[in-house]
Amino acid sequence: MKKFITAIFTASVIALSAPSVYSADDVVMSNSGGVPSLRGLVEISDVNQSEALKKVPREQHLMDRNYVQQPPLIPHSIRGYQVNLNANKCLSCHSFKNAGAMGATKVSVTHFITREGTTLSDVSPRRYFCLQCHVTQADAKPLVDNTFTPVDSLR
Ligand code: HEC
Ligand code: HEC
Repeated sequence: MKKFITAIFTASVIALSAPSVYSADDVVMSNSGGVPSLRGLVEISDVNQSEALKKVPREQHLMDRNYVQQPPLIPHSIRGYQVNLNANKCLSCHSFKNAGAMGATKVSVTHFITREGTTLSDVSPRRYFCLQCHVTQADAKPLVDNTFTPVDSLR
């Protein structure tokens, strides 16, 4: 045991005294703990600013879908709506059972189909995390140019 501790101690002394390519200033400026990534020793927020959060009105008119198979956008605010192991707030309005009373659209039956093609009597696990596909509507400028138009017969 004693030998082992001595070995660890020696190893750390060697590691700590090893010459570094980065100066102490670089290390202090970055939160990476001195571990360089492909980006170098800079904060990700310095090279890639995140977008400001969009304003999502509490309720708005549902925007048309741009193509068949597009997950419809969410025309209402979802602030505080939890989806986790124990609860799915979305289904408290959108499940077949509750949709009528809540005046909400039922999830489509495609949401009951597993990846093996079996139709379940409830939402399939692969459709449980609604926000994987559905996003709230916002007045947002497209991030990249897009010239997509649907074929005439499917407009
Ligand atoms: C309190 C009830 C309620 C909850 C909770 C709720 N919704 Fe809704 N949702 C509605 C109602 C009502 C509409 C219909 C509004 C309309 O057509 O203008 C709607 C519309 C939608 C639509 C558009 C459907 C269409 O007609 O094409 C989507 C998508 C949607 N909600 C997704 C979600 C998701 C995802 C969540 C959870 C993060 C969620 N909703 C939580 C009530 C709810
Ligand atoms: C893997 C992607 C995906 C997930 C996850 C998903 N959806 Fe969808 N959803 C879609 C697509 C695609 C459509 C449109 C085509 C269709 O009906 O299958 C749709 C359609 C809908 C519609 C409109 C149905 C109609 O009749 O117009 C509602 C409402 C909806 N989803 C709610 C939900 C809720 C609530 C959840 C979470 C329990 C959820 N979705 C999870 C992709 C998804």
